[in-house]
Amino acid sequence: MKIALRAENYRDPFGYEQERRNVWSREWVMFCTTAELSKPGDYYAADLAGWNLLLTVNPQGEIIGFHNVCPHRAGVIAWPGNGTLGNLVCRYHGWAFAWDGSLKSARDFGNEEPLCAEDFELKKISVQAWGPFVFVCLDPNAAPLLESLGGLPERISQYPIETFTYAQRVQREISCNWKTYVDNYLEGYHVPLLHPSLTKALDMSTYQVSIPEPSFCLHTCDTTQGSASGGAWLFRYPNLALNIYADGMNVERIIPLGYDRTMIIYDYFSVDTSAESIARMVDLSNVVLDEDQLICEAVQRNLNSGVYEAGPLSPRHEIGLMWFQRKIAEAISL
Ligand code: FES
Ligand SMILES: [Fe+2]
Repeated sequence: MKIALRAENYRDPFGYEQERRNVWSREWVMFCTTAELSKPGDYYAADLAGWNLLLTVNPQGEIIGFHNVCPHRAGVIAWPGNGTLGNLVCRYHGWAFAWDGSLKSARDFGNEEPLCAEDFELKKISVQAWGPFVFVCLDPNAAPLLESLGGLPERISQYPIETFTYAQRVQREISCNWKTYVDNYLEGYHVPLLHPSLTKALDMSTYQVSIPEPSFCLHTCDTTQGSASGGAWLFRYPNLALNIYADGMNVERIIPLGYDRTMIIYDYFSVDTSAESIARMVDLSNVVLDEDQLICEAVQRNLNSGVYEAGPLSPRHEIGLMWFQRKIAEAISL
């Protein structure tokens, strides 16, 4: 019988540091959408597991990425969020950088010899887009994004995602370890108990989870008659959930903010981008997210309490957790 990860793996700051090094700095991770980076000067800056990252579009129209950390005294080049940048200038003391990250000028520094541009560069990160998604990777030796996606693009090719327009982002911080939330996403076992509206829309006897390839997991379920909420739900290790329907998709990312806090980010895409249609999508997923947040935070408090160590995983319903937890255990050499 397979046993879940031990409770200490969900509450340990040292274990989280291992995950930052062995998971979050090695994998390609979706970071934003191409809609946010469509013309020169557009930028998006956000935190990824403790790394402050900045993506922007250079004057040639290419998306480029840097650690949002100034080599002078660790100031930021852009505040978190998105918008337009005229140039790369640190917000702390005004050092200016060229679009390749090299130092252009150290404002009013007072030295006789200019600082060597190569010694004070912004650190670059790898950035690649697939469809409407922009991914980053902090490992310079990682395989190209498309290679690492494997058969995932093919698996969703039956859905017309190119006809969907990016509509809205909703984010919510929750008080649990990121893996507590991922575990919950990876099984439908809890749906009949926690999600009454989903249960009405789905024929839960057909709910299935499979692992088509080592890098992603697939959930499928038929809808009950007349309901339009069935679709394909894919989860790509370590944190990307693609919930795809015939007329739109919501793309959910689970981003650790620390060992005990997690940001859930939803990006909504739809054929029908009217305010009513988007509000309906957001309302539906907010109901499910409220229900998942409630249980994930309760589970986390119990994992923290010291009463529970590790329980058995269901061979019928929890093979997604077996897959995910084995990958985590291998990554951090448990
Ligand atoms: S920290 Fe960036 S200019 Fe000083
Ligand atoms: Fe759920």
